[in-house]
Amino acid sequence: MTKPKIAILGTGYVGLVAAAVFAERGFDVLASSLDKEKVNLINRGQPPFYEKDLGAIVESVVRTGKLRAVLGRREAVLDSDIFFIAVGTPSLMSGEADLRLVRETAAAIGEALREKDTYSLVVARSTIVPGTTRNVIIPLLEKHSGKKAGEDFGVCMSPEFLRQGAAVYDTRNPDSVVIGELDTRSGTFLEGFCRQVYAGQNVPILRMNLESAEMVKYGRNTFLAMNISYINELARIAETIPGIDIYEVVKGIGADWRINPAFLNAGCGYGGSCFPKDVKALISFARLRAVQPQLLETVEEVNEQQAIHVVAIAKQEMGGSLKGKRIALLGLSFKPDTDDMREAPAIKVANHLYAQEADIVAYDPRAVPNARERFIRDTIKIYYADSVQECLKEADCCILLTEWEEFRKLSPEVFNRCMKRSVIVDGRRIWDEEFRKKVAAYRGIGLGSDNAYASEQTVLLKLGDMLTKAGLITQEQLERALEEQNRTGGLIGANLIKLGYLTEEALLGFLGKQYGISRKG
Ligand code: UGA
Repeated sequence: MTKPKIAILGTGYVGLVAAAVFAERGFDVLASSLDKEKVNLINRGQPPFYEKDLGAIVESVVRTGKLRAVLGRREAVLDSDIFFIAVGTPSLMSGEADLRLVRETAAAIGEALREKDTYSLVVARSTIVPGTTRNVIIPLLEKHSGKKAGEDFGVCMSPEFLRQGAAVYDTRNPDSVVIGELDTRSGTFLEGFCRQVYAGQNVPILRMNLESAEMVKYGRNTFLAMNISYINELARIAETIPGIDIYEVVKGIGADWRINPAFLNAGCGYGGSCFPKDVKALISFARLRAVQPQLLETVEEVNEQQAIHVVAIAKQEMGGSLKGKRIALLGLSFKPDTDDMREAPAIKVANHLYAQEADIVAYDPRAVPNARERFIRDTIKIYYADSVQECLKEADCCILLTEWEEFRKLSPEVFNRCMKRSVIVDGRRIWDEEFRKKVAAYRGIGLGSDNAYASEQTVLLKLGDMLTKAGLITQEQLERALEEQNRTGGLIGANLIKLGYLTEEALLGFLGKQYGISRKG
């Protein structure tokens, strides 16, 4: 098989990384963008965003002429055999994926296909809900080209599974390639190309229909998001049991051959441009089909709460009020090795801190310009430090939100020297026991606190407030029940019942209405 020429339409993470790696493997690749500045940057050998290892590859493949960026879609399609649609599908207010760019790109490919007389292949690479390739992309391609899919040109859907920060590695070493095909000829064409790209590597190629391939992408991402929310919930339970460590627990859980512990790292929640968006999109997709996505809704809710939980721990360490406290945030990007701030837990944490009148100072090795310009700008007051030391200076509490290598290497002395008192909330569990012992106070996600009900108390206080607001108990009764709780422990609801302020029936009835819990048995 001769080497097909490749066009990648879209120069975001997915598009440009694929373009660079295909070019590196000897294919002629055109990367098409509608943004002149991006085209110029790429043609000077520079990616328009930061991604580990990408700069060096782009520089080299542009220099050897294997990769060229072009403005617009037409030239890219006319000069190529396989075109990948790799444009963004951001969330709409409804949670649905916005298909505007996918539609425009499909129409533009169609226009260009009209001028082509050789068989070529369109591959949808963007994340799109099942049915989009068949019901949206193919009709647009046919309408604008005047040609027939499956006869005059082929169509496939092949999702990507790369992680930001490891995008180059993942594209070079995929665990599998999933090919959804309109017909056998389309699938065989794409499989041939993939076998050339991954020659000598043992990469399984899975062929299926278009809809199944589209669903695989949502299935993988929402499954991983579910793992994270699951472990964060387990971590919250673990925190109420002194001495327990969720990271030890996960070692035990993961020893079961049926469970993969790779994405069971408890922390301050998942962010980024994929998990939050894909969970929302699948929820919205399910609802439109009259399926209530209960599990997915909870996955999202637990993730939202996790940022509040991190702030609640800090609040507790500050004696119940964050007002006027200087809180140092270490890390802003949604994960290390990227400057990406999209849906980063840091945004939620900063907002909650600000709402409670904390003084916020933040440091991130790369994400500060992004945070300042697009994500935290104007909405809240936040001071950006130029170094860890500056960030920690005179701080009352430090919250770690992103596990950058730079932070892992910090010694406890740095915190002890710089901070007013070295109170640390480790939202990613990067510091070991040795470190923990040497700082004034350390709280880690999923690490049982000596004060057994400590972190849970915030949630329980909330329940007390809710019951008071609903008029089921008086403020005075709540205070008495809290005193009882401080004295003897136990849950607030149980104490209210014990003191005779509330019947079990009334409490369960209230919780039922609030959370949709029904009493069975
Ligand atoms: C994710 C998937 O991992 C990729 O396979 C997929 O291709 C990509 O989305 C996509 O759809 O394009 P990405 O968002 O780059 O990749 O980053 P992840 O490494 O998956 O992390 C996502 C978030 O989950 C981060 O905020 C991370 O801190 C958090 N996370 C991850 C945890 O809190 N715990 C874990 O155990 C793992």
